[in-house]
Amino acid sequence: MKILVTGGTGYIGSHTCVQLIEKDWQPVIIDSLVNSKISVLDRIQKITGTRPSFIQGDVREGDLLK
Ligand SMILES: NC(=O)c1ccc[n+]([C@@H]2O[C@H](COP(=O)([O-])OP(=O)(O)OC[C@H]3O[C@@H](n4cnc5c(N)ncnc54)[C@H](O)[C@@H]3O)[C@@H](O)[C@H]2O)c1
Repeated sequence: MKILVTGGTGYIGSHTCVQLIEKDWQPVIIDSLVNSKISVLDRIQKITGTRPSFIQGDVREGDLLK
């Protein structure tokens, strides 16, 4: 199952994604990268073997969330 993780490349979000993947969820990350780096995706992939889907954007953009 897919699950939306806002701020998923941040500190708490990235650890959450690792836990979700290990429980067979498919995280879809939305992050603006205002306080994190795209390279976090590489680290999640290295730890879990799975690269989460990623959308760069601001969660305050209503059209993006739709
Ligand atoms: N090594 C450590 O122990 C360590 C390291 C970092 C942080 N912390 C702690 O963790 C807490 C912070 O972690 P966090 O995960 O809440 O913060 P974070 O800043 O790491 O993660 C928030 C994420 O949300 C994104 N973001 C912010 N506003 C956004 C918006 N409007 N739209 C889309 N994305 C947006 C940022 O780019 C970032 O990736 C603090 O308590 C801090 O002290 C601990």
